[in-house]
Amino acid sequence: MADLFDCIISTKQTFGGCTELVLQNGALAACAAQGQFLHIQCGDQTLRRPISICDVAGDSLTVVFEVKGAGTEWLAAQQVGAVVNVLGPLGHGFPLVCGRILVCGGGIGVPPMLLTAKGAEAADAVLGFRTASREMLTDRFRAVCTDVVVMSDDGTCGKQGFVADGAAELLKKHTYAAVMACGPKIMLKTVAQAAKKAGVPCYVSMEERMGCGIGACLVCACKTTKNGEEGYRHVCKDGPVFAAEEVCWDD
Ligand SMILES: Cc1cc2nc3c(=O)[nH]c(=O)nc-3n(C[C@H](O)[C@H](O)[C@H](O)COP(=O)(O)OP(=O)(O)OC[C@H]3O[C@@H](n4cnc5c(N)ncnc54)[C@H](O)[C@@H]3O)c2cc1C
Ligand code: FES
Repeated sequence: MADLFDCIISTKQTFGGCTELVLQNGALAACAAQGQFLHIQCGDQTLRRPISICDVAGDSLTVVFEVKGAGTEWLAAQQVGAVVNVLGPLGHGFPLVCGRILVCGGGIGVPPMLLTAKGAEAADAVLGFRTASREMLTDRFRAVCTDVVVMSDDGTCGKQGFVADGAAELLKKHTYAAVMACGPKIMLKTVAQAAKKAGVPCYVSMEERMGCGIGACLVCACKTTKNGEEGYRHVCKDGPVFAAEEVCWDD
């Protein structure tokens, strides 16, 4: 159940061109689930900014984000000890499935896959980055996953190629109960195709610009099909995670 929480920033670090903040609030941490997001008040910005939950441990939650504009710039400038106001946890995250799963993350879509991998009975990961200087969190994935494949666009870290190439390789090697992915739309589409080819259910976390974050403003509409019928659903409330076969990829 989403609510408003004041969280104290307890740790701050930067890596891969991103900022990681550890936020302390036991009540919020207790109800946060894999694939959900926090809607964070960023200074005097009218609209809150959605940031995925990367990890939960005890009474703390970790978020990792890239500076894009005024909101994330304000958030990245906050120091340890500052208090941020958070609405959350929001959205429907990744389902809990029995058995081994494959998590796939691309760029800033990598962080939410860490909590997802941690929540699984067993998990492997494919992590994709533009280049070595953007690589992040791979050690933390290695600590919780059996097989971790790193891909990069330019071959400067891991193997050269796309996340879907790494996913196709692991889908041939192991049997999975599900594939779960977060990243750019083209990555999600190609990972979903690789999962479909292997006959494995796939869940994807979609990203749209958001207003309210709670299903009231229609800003985040995403075209999907359900039971053969096309329609728009809210990424904030019905998602951000959808079954890949429900997403209308070319809209
Ligand atoms: C469910 C969800 C989870 C997210 N999780 C993360 C995360 O874990 N880490 C992270 O770094 N980012 C995440 N984002 C994206 C993040 O919310 C945006 O980068 C942020 O809102 C930009 O705010 P701003 O004020 O800094 O920039 P703005 O001034 O609002 O925008 C700057 C630029 O970013 C683009 N932008 C703004 N919002 C989005 C968006 N939602 N998707 C794509 N581009 C956008 C704008 O088109 C513009 O070009 C997530 C988005 C969603 C919807
Ligand atoms: S952001 Fe308002 S309905 Fe989704």
